[in-house]
Amino acid sequence: MLVSAKEMLQKAHAGKYAVGQFNINNLEWTKAILLTAQELGSPVILGVSEGAGKYMCGYGTVVGMVNGMLKELGITVPVALHLDHGSYEGALACIEAGFSSVMFDGSHYPIEENIEKTKELVRLTGERGISLEAEVGAIGGEEDGVVGGGEVADPNECKAIADLGVTMLAAGIGNIHGKYPENWAGLRFDTLAEIQKLTGDMPLVLHGGTGIPEDMIKKAISLGVSKINVNTECQLSFAAATRTYIEAGKDLQGKGFDPRKLLAPGFEAIKATVKEKMELFGSVGKA
Ligand code: 13P
Repeated sequence: MLVSAKEMLQKAHAGKYAVGQFNINNLEWTKAILLTAQELGSPVILGVSEGAGKYMCGYGTVVGMVNGMLKELGITVPVALHLDHGSYEGALACIEAGFSSVMFDGSHYPIEENIEKTKELVRLTGERGISLEAEVGAIGGEEDGVVGGGEVADPNECKAIADLGVTMLAAGIGNIHGKYPENWAGLRFDTLAEIQKLTGDMPLVLHGGTGIPEDMIKKAISLGVSKINVNTECQLSFAAATRTYIEAGKDLQGKGFDPRKLLAPGFEAIKATVKEKMELFGSVGKA
């Protein structure tokens, strides 16, 4: 059964580790992440962007697929199904469809409007026991065609949103989606510390987990980050493994073209990436 992300994140915050959010794109992705979490005894959050939701034929299809897998694969670790960077309407649709967690990304609105919409979603998710992630300060980089500037959040605005009663809070601290440029200045730990000081024990969320050096991940966790989002890294490892298979001509040997064979190396590559991240984030054995 899907669970809200609240309990797993509060435990992670208290225990100084982070739960990974891994974005899903299809059946192979979902199966690879769920099996790895189960093998490692780790809680996990499956992230679905609005674009990925559309690609997978709508939120109802995603809920059906994930619930089916939890049952058929015998998954017993805590799993949350979470809307990633949702619009207000997208969050409502996911609540209706059976997601156990949603993000409302109001970071591009003036703070008053972000507060107003987040407040309404605190009420709607609270009634149903669904966890809610809010965002202050846009995360840089490109996601689903939306390019953010990589802002650094205002800690007082973070406090205003946290005080509404959200479950977890994403704040821009110089992080971006996708690969980091050569000249990236790194995470703003001063801002992160200030945000946590003002928000008390609020679990903080680090987006753009791909390519952040290990020491920065560990420091971010020590300062209150309890959820780390990873997307691009699984895509890159899947693509590289698939490329190797095809370049070796394996799809032309025997029944190597069978999708169950063709997609197998990419599937294993996602599993390896997820394992590596769960070990780094410290969530192994924390289910
Ligand atoms: P990356 O694609 O950089 O790993 O970021 C993922 C993310 O933050 C999803 O919200």
